[in-house]
Amino acid sequence: MDMDEPYQKIDLGLRDLFIGKRIYHYNKIKSTQLLAISLAETNFNTEHGTVIVADEQDEGIGRGKKKWASPRGGLWMSLIIKPKIDFAKINMISVISAISVCEAINDISHLKTVIKWPNDVLINEKKLAGILIDTNTNNNKNDYIIIGIGINIDVDISKINLSIESNNIIPTRVTSIHNEIKAKNIDRFILMKQLLRKIDFYLSLLENDRFHKKIIEIYKNLSNIIGKRVIIYHESLKKYSGIVKDIDIGGGLILERDDKLLEIIYSGEITIREQNDK
Ligand code: BTN
Repeated sequence: MDMDEPYQKIDLGLRDLFIGKRIYHYNKIKSTQLLAISLAETNFNTEHGTVIVADEQDEGIGRGKKKWASPRGGLWMSLIIKPKIDFAKINMISVISAISVCEAINDISHLKTVIKWPNDVLINEKKLAGILIDTNTNNNKNDYIIIGIGINIDVDISKINLSIESNNIIPTRVTSIHNEIKAKNIDRFILMKQLLRKIDFYLSLLENDRFHKKIIEIYKNLSNIIGKRVIIYHESLKKYSGIVKDIDIGGGLILERDDKLLEIIYSGEITIREQNDK
């Protein structure tokens, strides 16, 4: 890690967990994700559950290499994890991250956010939080996964919309927690603590095969997609359109394409069409 940048170790009292025992807090950095990757790459002994959080990011990164506007007032953090799971279950990290973000926000704010497949968190059809997963699982000696999470808590939405319009093919409406609730008192660190507790909990479930089905059930219950007509894009190009029949056991979308063929899709960006046929 580039230790020249000023950081502070913070203690959220999560000693009973694996996640969040070691937290590096920065006032301002380029991207917590880049720092987490470089830390995991350069120091093989980086502890499972190490967290990097920043008040502000100059060059926050979103999925598909898009910019992620990260002014003050949001929760911008990346977790380095080294879970004991098979490669086949890697996609489930995205699933448990989305559940954790959704539930943590709902617990703290009493909003009823939903997951937009694969791992956006929305309220009233506007994006409140996003998740970016980076993995290195080719090299047995140094397998790691980075979970990057951005939550708009009290950010200036006009700044975020501007940045989204300039780099997004699929228009996304954006909001913040404070935009959606009257009481403007969400404490970033309380939300972060709840989120880290959730991730720790769901990771331990994921490490135990018995709970796999249960996790998918929870994900489906929080998801807004089943029965909807969608268009799926890959690298900004339209790939399929059809109706979502279900979510499969690996977190993939089971899509009935317009030509009636069934397809299981694990990655891509989707737009949900207004028409709602089952
Ligand atoms: C998305 O496109 O929806 C994913 C956004 C992920 C943003 C977070 S903010 C913390 C971490 N650092 C980054 O540069 N990106 C992720």
